Amino acid sequence: MKAIVQERFGPPDVLRLADVDTPEIGPGDVLVQVHAAAVNPYEWHVLRGDPYVARLMMGDIGLTRPRNPVAGVDAAGRVEAAGANVRDLRPGDEVFGFCPGAFAEYARARADLVVPKPAGLTFEEAAALPIAATTALRAIRDIGGVRAGNRVLVNGAAGGVGMYAVQIAVMLGAEVTGVCGTRNLNLVRSIGAAHAVDYTKEDFTERSGGFDVILDNVGNHALGRLRRALTPAGTLVINAGGSPGAVFGAVGAMLRGVALDRFVRQRLRIVPTKQRQEDLRDLAGLVEEGWLTSVLDRSYPLADAAEAVRYIERGHARGKVILNVT
Ligand SMILES: NC(=O)c1ccc[n+]([C@@H]2O[C@H](COP(=O)([O-])OP(=O)(O)OC[C@H]3O[C@@H](n4cnc5c(N)ncnc54)[C@H](OP(=O)(O)O)[C@@H]3O)[C@@H](O)[C@H]2O)c1
Repeated sequence: MKAIVQERFGPPDVLRLADVDTPEIGPGDVLVQVHAAAVNPYEWHVLRGDPYVARLMMGDIGLTRPRNPVAGVDAAGRVEAAGANVRDLRPGDEVFGFCPGAFAEYARARADLVVPKPAGLTFEEAAALPIAATTALRAIRDIGGVRAGNRVLVNGAAGGVGMYAVQIAVMLGAEVTGVCGTRNLNLVRSIGAAHAVDYTKEDFTERSGGFDVILDNVGNHALGRLRRALTPAGTLVINAGGSPGAVFGAVGAMLRGVALDRFVRQRLRIVPTKQRQEDLRDLAGLVEEGWLTSVLDRSYPLADAAEAVRYIERGHARGKVILNVT
């Protein structure tokens, strides 16, 4: 099968289209014929082994080269084969979820990490969901604890995580402020934000004490300034940030937040990486109820995966970037 292989750490040029063996599945796995895969910042973190401390902290990155020889995680497609212990999925079923090695014609996935694709979604829209939307769900609902009437600010509201986070906070009844660049103001309002702040014209951290929950997807403001924009008992959810080439990257800001959390009244929380089937099911439910839509920026053919990762690295994706596979 055709796949995008990552044989060593490096820039996106390292990615190569190659013929590799189709993965074999175990009793609890399914083999997914991938129709669409999504590109996340996660892909360049793994590819570059960046930030360097992540090689030690995150088992799925690898120490001396990317642990998984085939790139990608998020996928939507059809079940080609199911392992002997898989009860609820059959060949032909349309699914989406976490499929390591998703940048390929076929990917092996744990059957408990994919779910049926909502019928109204295209494969591209479904592939957009797993990493970005489950992160947004955990950040806003579980870690942020957002409730009706809360004032919530999402920094990086036009990106993959941000555009889902805005919609989930709106669904929970919050009054949402989305921070983005000028060209994305209308997009951010169109997905439900009551207010859109243009970061080229206004620094939201100059506003003091206004937000119950801030989700920071960008990492471009000091902790003290973010805290100033929170209410005295507000919650800061530090999701990440950082550019290629960092030793600590977002990990430094996260550790500072965790260290300070016990000494202040505000809650300073990070978003640990998690893959959970129940989150995928919840998202499918939100899509079916009309709460959640996938904003798609652009699509690339599988062979152009390196170009897609380069685009994501530039840090101005508008919603999700997709690879069309088969
Ligand atoms: N904890 C986890 O498990 C987890 C999971 C997924 C992602 N993440 C992290 O979360 C972060 C966001 O991921 P993503 O998938 O949303 O990234 P993305 O899709 O690449 O989004 C980048 C967004 O950042 C916006 N942006 C850039 N500079 C900005 C600024 N100064 N102020 C406000 N917005 C700005 C861009 O909007 P404009 O074009 O308008 O500038 C763009 O929409 C990344 O650091 C990623 O590594 C963590």
